[in-house]
Amino acid sequence: MEKEKIILTGDRPTGRLHIGHYVGSLRGRVELQNTGQYSKLFIFIADAQALTDNMDNPEKVRQNVIEVALDYLACGLDPSRSTIFIQSQIAELCELSFYYMNLVSVSRLQRNPTVKSEIQQRNFEASIPVGFFTYPISQAADITAFRATTVPVGEDQEPMLEQAREIVRRFNHIYGETLVEPDILLPGNAACQRLPGTDGKAKMSKSLGNCIYLSDSADEVQQKIKGMYTDPDHLRVQDPGRVEGNPVFTYLDAFCQPEHFGRYLPDYPNLDELKAHYRRGGLGDVKVKRFLTAILQETLEPIRTRRKAFEQDIPAVYDMLRKGCEAAREAAAATLDDVRRAMKINYFDDAELIAQQAKRFKAE
Ligand code: TRP
Repeated sequence: MEKEKIILTGDRPTGRLHIGHYVGSLRGRVELQNTGQYSKLFIFIADAQALTDNMDNPEKVRQNVIEVALDYLACGLDPSRSTIFIQSQIAELCELSFYYMNLVSVSRLQRNPTVKSEIQQRNFEASIPVGFFTYPISQAADITAFRATTVPVGEDQEPMLEQAREIVRRFNHIYGETLVEPDILLPGNAACQRLPGTDGKAKMSKSLGNCIYLSDSADEVQQKIKGMYTDPDHLRVQDPGRVEGNPVFTYLDAFCQPEHFGRYLPDYPNLDELKAHYRRGGLGDVKVKRFLTAILQETLEPIRTRRKAFEQDIPAVYDMLRKGCEAAREAAAATLDDVRRAMKINYFDDAELIAQQAKRFKAE
């Protein structure tokens, strides 16, 4: 029998989701959900992981759980087809992490490039919280508790997936074939893997103030694109311009579809021609930005509208999450049963064990 295909992925609730999240993972998840090729999808809000570097700001995490849930629903994740849940409510994940800690060395965690750079960004060098340091282990628990085969995430998560795969192999080697080795699923298009900020900086991040949020109003989107960084040497329209490292073109790479030209910029047949004109000179930033604005508004408008509708019934959103947590907990509990059996810590559901021990002590 072919292995059941199961998707799992999640986001830290430290802010509303932005268009980087959208092209990096969210858009793909919705497509995967709608293909019907996966028997299950688990999509979760990683509040416990968010607390590993926001331990002193629980209110921020709490507020953003509902924001992320609304962003999910707005993008078309459908609770009748995907299990949407909150990480902290699944106690089994803690238990699993605890056992996995025996399978990972401190030096292995220290070598994780994502953790390394995050420690720097957060000025944790002098004093790293243990919970933060070990979050790749907890992430392996997230993935394996649901027997995920496929994890759609951005490329920055590659070291986490590698860590999870190592834990699975080690576990299965020691305790017998129990866990499923997951594969990463990256977005096909390079622009989608790491969308830069509107200021041209390498990453969209709330602290840099360079994000376009999925829930931004049409007006905010327009203003943000208007103020976007472009090629600083492209001063006059007739000057030749640079496309590489120019975020306006990176966003076009991520969002532009062939049909957008017919609708909004019929003078050009495709993106290559538009780029060629910009490079040659004679194409102004304003025109390119207008085109990008039209495309982004077309993409974001239905998301905005759906979000507004879900915002009208917040209790229903919490109810959806609660049901998701219940279903997720059931799935994780089934894996934990297998794990406990494999690790020989299932004392009370093993009649043979008790009979064996009784016999042993009688013989003595
Ligand atoms: N680390 C991910 C992020 O920062 C969130 C996350 C937590 C996750 N656990 C996961 C993603 C498991 C995929 C699978 O966005």
